[in-house]
Amino acid sequence: MKHYDYILVGGGLFNGVVAREAGKQGKTCLVVEKRDALGGNIMCRDVEGILVHEYGAHIFHTGNEEVWQYVTSLAEFNHYINCPVANYHGETYNLPFNMNTFSKMWGITFPAEAKEIIESQKQKVEGEPSNLEEQAVSLVGTDIYEKLIKGYTEKQWGRDCKDLPASIIKRIPVRYIYDNNYFNDPHQGIPKEGYNKLIERLYDGCDVMLSTDYLEKREELEAMGDKVIYTGTIDSYYGYCFGKLAYRSLRFEHELLEEENHQGVAVMNYTDRETPYTRKIEHKHFAFGKQEKTVVTKEYPAEWEDGMEPYYPVNDEKNNRLFEKYRELSRKEEKVLFGGRLGEYKYYDMDKVIESALRFTKDTLNL
Ligand code: FDA
Repeated sequence: MKHYDYILVGGGLFNGVVAREAGKQGKTCLVVEKRDALGGNIMCRDVEGILVHEYGAHIFHTGNEEVWQYVTSLAEFNHYINCPVANYHGETYNLPFNMNTFSKMWGITFPAEAKEIIESQKQKVEGEPSNLEEQAVSLVGTDIYEKLIKGYTEKQWGRDCKDLPASIIKRIPVRYIYDNNYFNDPHQGIPKEGYNKLIERLYDGCDVMLSTDYLEKREELEAMGDKVIYTGTIDSYYGYCFGKLAYRSLRFEHELLEEENHQGVAVMNYTDRETPYTRKIEHKHFAFGKQEKTVVTKEYPAEWEDGMEPYYPVNDEKNNRLFEKYRELSRKEEKVLFGGRLGEYKYYDMDKVIESALRFTKDTLNL
């Protein structure tokens, strides 16, 4: 039986970087992935020439020069800039909140006018805001809250804003300039050939075992390598011995439409409470596609249950404490190391996961 330096559990971005760095040093890797394709959540599916972001829209953006050099040495990026649009009962507004939003909402032109309206609407809350609604209104006033924050947030959390803690929203960025670019980072884009090509290049030279759940063949697979880098959920690795970590999940509904251009923008947020989904993604616009058809995906927030994809960790006090218990256990492991968003129970953007994996390969694997 072939023996490897590393058994990489999970074929996402984190292990992709580990695979590439290991390969550069002549180390051998076997990737074990339970899905039927590599890529983790950045994996795309080709539908009629349109790359569909199967596990949620992924826009690469970073302020880290090292990470930008790293990804652009592997893939050419296009000039996509994320400029989402909010749809409130058919009224459309630019996001993030900026002069285009305010101009449309109040028919004004100048920043001073927008500031005056927002200030006049910020209701003075006695003492500290006691819930999310009070917090949001104290930051941006009633109109922005009612039309662009309330319904979206209530759908996301499945609860009334009055029943949500103020701490969920610490600040709400407001721009008094005409600028619809959602991200502040200097670098942004989508790989021209898609994320799958980037993943292919990261894992180039590795042996790959797809549709295999590592935990079901743990002993056999562990014996095949010197070290195991595990990027699945840490609680599942330990058989949920302290209990289950909580996640927020999403349900995606993909649809191929017989029209060339459905919504005119890649990301449309539905900010009213009545529309059951929170976002609609039209994938071709990430790549300036000119295909005759189009694919749209509706995103529905969903409570996470066993068997569902764990998308966002719920990093509240209770779950962080639970995670710490698992982390304590993991520190005792000699052969198994944990990484990535599921192994570390942490929300990581793509650039941050690359940064973390590069640090891991240097500091922990000494590559
Ligand atoms: P990832 O989850 O990608 O990979 C882990 C892999 O391990 C999976 O393929 C899984 O199947 C596999 N696995 C788990 N258990 C296993 C087992 N027992 N045996 C075998 N395989 C197993 N970031 C950004 O920069 N811009 C963006 O726009 C977005 N958008 C976005 C949308 C949504 C909905 C989410 C949830 C996340 C984003 N992200 C993002 C974040 C981005 O997805 C994230 O940074 C990376 O995918 C994380 O890569 P990992 O390798 O850590 O995990």
